[in-house]
Amino acid sequence: MPEMTSNLSGQHILLGISGGIAAYKTPILVRRLVEAGASVQVVMTANAHQFVTATSLQAVSGNPVRDDLWDAGAEAAMGHIELARWADQILIAPATASMIARLATGDASDLLSTLCLASPAPVSIAPAMNQQMYQHPAVQRNLASLQADGCRIIGPDSGDQACGDRGPGRMTEPEDLLTALAEQSLTGDGRGPLTDCTVTVTTGPTREAIDPVRYISNHSSGLQGLAVAESARRAGAKVILIAGPGVAGAHAEIERRDVTTAQDMYEQVHNALPSTDVFIGVAAVADYRPANAQGQKIKRHRQEEPDMRLALVENPDIIASVVQSGQVKVVVGFAAETNDTLNNAREKRARKGLDAIVVNDVSDHSIGFNSSNNAVTLIHENGEIDFGIQPKTEIAEQLIYQLGALFKNKITL
Ligand code: CTP
Repeated sequence: MPEMTSNLSGQHILLGISGGIAAYKTPILVRRLVEAGASVQVVMTANAHQFVTATSLQAVSGNPVRDDLWDAGAEAAMGHIELARWADQILIAPATASMIARLATGDASDLLSTLCLASPAPVSIAPAMNQQMYQHPAVQRNLASLQADGCRIIGPDSGDQACGDRGPGRMTEPEDLLTALAEQSLTGDGRGPLTDCTVTVTTGPTREAIDPVRYISNHSSGLQGLAVAESARRAGAKVILIAGPGVAGAHAEIERRDVTTAQDMYEQVHNALPSTDVFIGVAAVADYRPANAQGQKIKRHRQEEPDMRLALVENPDIIASVVQSGQVKVVVGFAAETNDTLNNAREKRARKGLDAIVVNDVSDHSIGFNSSNNAVTLIHENGEIDFGIQPKTEIAEQLIYQLGALFKNKITL
């Protein structure tokens, strides 16, 4: 989508650089931003100087580089609060584990973290670190908090790392960062592609009781649906999130309704339909539930039935009922398939009457369920778009952008 970078013309981009090896790529990024017509101010952390020089960054940006909260000369030219207000967007690339921790806790111990707190501009970060560090629960927790605060996480890419490891943690390439900033600028003024639209998203598993202590469920974490809800919010939509058990927190502006069973989910979805324009079913709904959930714990030794058999009855197909209701302008489903992925999904889209379906192959256990990465294909009436392996947050962002473009006429009718 190269033509999209024209959105950057005239934008004020504040580029924050923290101390990771990927910082050596930032002069290229600045150069591309300037070529796209943006004004760039660069702020470095003390450690970033180990990997790239302020002289190069000053040369390509055409502006002096800032790195100190207490630099009287720089403050006299443009105070840090003025700089925070100047920015239309802030990008931190690379964002190290330490920078991410500071941002997640609202720590204002250096110029860059202070600017992020003091600025009303949207903040995007491009994490870059060793794959083991990236996958550490502390880093993942901090990223989840930042995302819930509305920060956009771009990448990281997966592959060979400077330290010799292989895995997720490579900074997203400058060209892709440029595209991501251009997408953000479509939504940066608060009038994104889904402004005036209400989007209802289901996510997570459902849980179907067998008895008071046991249930049938699945491995869904709800992360992909959370990311879709967050991207829809950032695209200007009012978002209703209907979440199954165990789904992590969402942004405060997202109206969240927690449910347990498929039947609860069905009811909450239908309550939301009168105000819904776009329905996106990401939830992994249990197709069947025990016919007779027991009020008391089922005992192990039951002479009358030594082979335990569980009778199941079908749950409602929620998304198909949304289509049938005719109350919603656009209905988008998700499908997790283990075999004949694309054909199954094409058939499912047609069978359920969906405007589009997003399919992923869950036979590859390194992505999908419980992973922060996913690889999906968007199938719609007139074509298919393959998104490749990417973090769920980035997939959600591109998906919402594509849905906004594909169904523009339906949504704005
Ligand atoms: N879905 C739903 N209600 C159900 C089952 C599924 O709303 N009872 C939605 C999901 O949220 C998803 C889409 O339907 O958007 C496809 O889910 P999937 O489980 O792949 O569909 P099934 O119809 O259950 O197909 P399969 O036979 O492959 O399980």
